[in-house]
Amino acid sequence: MDKTLLITGANRGIGLELARQYLAANWRVLACCRNPDQATELQALAQRGTGKLAIHALDVARDEDIARLARELREEKIDILFQNAGIGGPRGQGFAPIDSEEWLKAFRVNVLAPFHLTLALVDQVAASQRRIVAIMGTQLGSITDNTSGGRYVYRSTKAAVHMVGKSLSIDLAPRGITTLLLHPGWVRTAMGGAQATMSVEDSVRGLRQVLERATPADSGQLIAYDGRILPW
Ligand SMILES: NC(=O)c1ccc[n+]([C@@H]2O[C@H](COP(=O)([O-])OP(=O)(O)OC[C@H]3O[C@@H](n4cnc5c(N)ncnc54)[C@H](OP(=O)(O)O)[C@@H]3O)[C@@H](O)[C@H]2O)c1
Repeated sequence: MDKTLLITGANRGIGLELARQYLAANWRVLACCRNPDQATELQALAQRGTGKLAIHALDVARDEDIARLARELREEKIDILFQNAGIGGPRGQGFAPIDSEEWLKAFRVNVLAPFHLTLALVDQVAASQRRIVAIMGTQLGSITDNTSGGRYVYRSTKAAVHMVGKSLSIDLAPRGITTLLLHPGWVRTAMGGAQATMSVEDSVRGLRQVLERATPADSGQLIAYDGRILPW
């Protein structure tokens, strides 16, 4: 039977490449993005494809969007729920004033949304074969790895979502669900910038291998695109 990936933030960057590669591997892809009408690359993929790509509107920061999506998808089985959507927060983020509203907005997108969406779709994940909840973390959210300071908004929200994922890994284990925090590498996207060391293609190839090999024993770990376990 076909396997199904749900991906958030699927209209560009790493999310779009995840949609591309899983489609090429013959998966069904539920591609979620804020503005389907403007998601031209996703639409082109849908037109080219074999009917295996469905585009859904989802602003992960809006509780009503999450509730509507869960209603739309109530009959689905979701093998991998990939929570990729994320924001870096305001520019700067050195030891200087930071807009509190912007900081809270980043918390909503990077931390609260993965929890709310997992809660809304947990039955669909539990009903699937693979039963994986994948949350995009980052090495920059590692407290052990922080030797350069700064990046207060991004680092604090990603460290927080690492903890959300760790608790999910424990709470969802009885339902056979594996919860992974993933680090995609430093990737050339709008967020990663042009100086980043990895292409989206290579990053996603690595992430797919990590997901392919994942077992319940990996649940609750922060795993890099090349399979390395990273310290919290
Ligand atoms: N690039 C890197 O080097 C790197 C490294 C470590 C971790 N990551 C993580 O990887 C993930 C993807 O990053 P990326 O590099 O692909 O970034 P990106 O190119 O900036 O893409 C971010 C994606 O998130 C979506 N998004 C933002 N806010 C949203 C919301 N409220 N609702 C729904 N979607 C929303 C964006 O949609 P819109 O187009 O609507 O804004 C876009 O699709 C993020 O979680 C990021 O923190 C990236």
